[in-house]
Amino acid sequence: MNTATIVCPLVASVVSLSLAAAPTPDQRALDLLQRMTLEEKVGQLVQFSDGMATGPDRVKVDQAALLPKGGIGSLLNAVGAHKTNALQKIAVEQSRLGVPLLFGLDVIHGYRTTFPVPLGLSAAWDPSLIERTARVAAAEAAAGGIRWTFAPMVDIARDPRWGRIMEGSGEDPYLGSALAVAAVRGYQGGIGTANLAQPTSILACAKHFVAYGGAEGGRDYNTVDISERVLRDVYLPPFKAATDAGVVTFMSAFNALNGVPTSAYRHTLTGILRDEWKFDGFVVSDWTSITELIPHGIALDDRTAAFKGFASGVDMDMQANLYAAELPGLVRAGKVSEQAVDASVRRILRAKFELGLFENPYVNADAEAAAMLKPEYIALAREAAEQSFVLLKNDATSGGKPVLPLAANARIALIGPLADDAEEMLGGWSCQGKKEDVVTLRASLAERFGTAFTYAKGTAITGDSREGFAAALDAAKNADVVIMALGESRHMSGEAASRTRLDLPGNQLDLLKEVSKLGKPVVLVAFSGRPLTIPWEAANVPAILMAWYPGLQAGPALTRVLTGDAAPSGKLTATMPRAVGQVPLYYNHLKTGRPVPGPDDEKKDEGYKFLSRYVDEDGSPLYPFGHGLTYTTFTYAATKASTKELSVNALRNGAAIEVESTITNTGSRSGTEIAQLYIRQRGTSVARPVRELKGFEKFTLEPGQSRTVKFKLTAAELAFWNIDMQLAVEACELTVWVAPSSITGTPTKIMITE
Ligand code: GLC
Repeated sequence: MNTATIVCPLVASVVSLSLAAAPTPDQRALDLLQRMTLEEKVGQLVQFSDGMATGPDRVKVDQAALLPKGGIGSLLNAVGAHKTNALQKIAVEQSRLGVPLLFGLDVIHGYRTTFPVPLGLSAAWDPSLIERTARVAAAEAAAGGIRWTFAPMVDIARDPRWGRIMEGSGEDPYLGSALAVAAVRGYQGGIGTANLAQPTSILACAKHFVAYGGAEGGRDYNTVDISERVLRDVYLPPFKAATDAGVVTFMSAFNALNGVPTSAYRHTLTGILRDEWKFDGFVVSDWTSITELIPHGIALDDRTAAFKGFASGVDMDMQANLYAAELPGLVRAGKVSEQAVDASVRRILRAKFELGLFENPYVNADAEAAAMLKPEYIALAREAAEQSFVLLKNDATSGGKPVLPLAANARIALIGPLADDAEEMLGGWSCQGKKEDVVTLRASLAERFGTAFTYAKGTAITGDSREGFAAALDAAKNADVVIMALGESRHMSGEAASRTRLDLPGNQLDLLKEVSKLGKPVVLVAFSGRPLTIPWEAANVPAILMAWYPGLQAGPALTRVLTGDAAPSGKLTATMPRAVGQVPLYYNHLKTGRPVPGPDDEKKDEGYKFLSRYVDEDGSPLYPFGHGLTYTTFTYAATKASTKELSVNALRNGAAIEVESTITNTGSRSGTEIAQLYIRQRGTSVARPVRELKGFEKFTLEPGQSRTVKFKLTAAELAFWNIDMQLAVEACELTVWVAPSSITGTPTKIMITE
């Protein structure tokens, strides 16, 4: 039999292989595991932030002493080929078994080429775009020695007070699931682990498991208390989708869920993730979330915290240093079985073998710089930014034409604190993004409009100084159109950045009102990491474009969209409320027994008092989920279904309902539309949302062109967690819409019969 002997210098052992069947990564992991001491095994379950002692009140950890002993399995925040190679050299060449380190980093929306923040990217409703940006991020990160990103963040968020809404894909489980799959494919090089050994592939991480976005009050790290049905209907689906796409890692969360801290919740970490979903990757805790079991109140000491975290299903301890300190003793005391430790270590070693780290633990430092900021990456950053913008309104002014796109010969005044702040364009979690690589809106508009362009900062993002107002008003007076670049600082969203108000910070609105008094056409370009409450703006500013944080190509992308070289095509993935008092406000809500008549109701709202409403505000969104305009108009023909009636049994046996609508570009410009499929089920054992997104299709039409979009509804789309907490299809009255948003479209009904 042909055999080849491969000497793995890293593991200093000779493994005799039959060429016919090379050992799998799992077999190699098992082989290595058998030669490890308990301390070496536990070392694989330990992750630290490079060079950082543990949390503020924890004992200092001598990482330099641990590395050559195999006492650390993974480092995060070690950045760059030289840095990672130097650390890797210690682990591989000085430790007894030479197990390579796994370097992790928060590569959330780009590594060096910074794309729009995830909430902005999600507004493109384009899985292929998400996959392409993730692929670029992976290639750049891997060139710097990183082979694991703590992304995608797939937390559903229904509360814009929560700053981390910026990091996700908004409020909908269906869209969130589709984009989660796309991100996993991008980072890992495809579905599953088949392409992990490619040097540009990195492990993805579905986080934060689970329901972190449900924090009460929108306050980060706060308690989450939801029903099992909401957990399964709303918060779990994107994680399940990531699991089915072969994501290799999960990250447990900080929050307590229904009284149990999610980094020690066996029901979710083992019951659902492993027993139900058969996930066989590994789970890393969030930053010191194992230690935080003590302040949560379910552990009185380190040993109990380590025990509860590990026994619940967290394989790797990020930064708490409790597994290193406590697991060996727990095993020797018989509290934790060594088999359980072996199972965790095996998952981590298998991932390292799948990445090819044992054969290629180092990166080529000479090739690192050339791997960054390639022209095609910059082009993709601009494309992604253009697709992320959401045109909320674009009214005609006295001239009869919509304010946008800008006329080529217009005199433009650009005003606002976000107009020329390169760093702000990076958004939160900007990884290795550098402000030097950003092109601001000011730079691009100045280049485009030359002497017909003036700029004034006007005011700061926060604070109440009005000293810049006069110069801003002067600039506005001499212009045909005024563009106001206003919004939040990037530090006002992301982690530990919740707000109690959602309006424009500081005195930006005052400045906008002063400028508006001049009677010039005004365009508000709003930069933020969340939906904002902009009722005055919506009532008084003719054109509003949500720009989120567009990344490196903010200026070119915005200029192309504002001038019509490109048309806006994004649609909201998170509801925009009128007032923060409405929050949480989301499209897929229940009807209640006293609903205020809405767009889907025949009867109109006559103001009857005793309905689910506010006495001081319209309860509807300012701008709904799925809303977004462009520079042309589309009409939707009536929604059609392939049948008026279908039995539950037929659905269970694979039958499908086809739903379609013909959409026509009725304007004078080419335009891109995102048609959305919604359902509602009535007569069911539990109340179902007034609408649920179950499909979408994005396409471009020339003026006069039509397209018939077709969707299929099967048991998979119609099943929900019923009164018995079974995932099932039920007889019901099914209403479907093919629509441009969550409050429009013509319905058609299908009876689903027993
Ligand atoms: C942070 C975040 C998490 C991140 C991790 C490592 O606290 O909660 O999203 O991946 O720590 O930076």
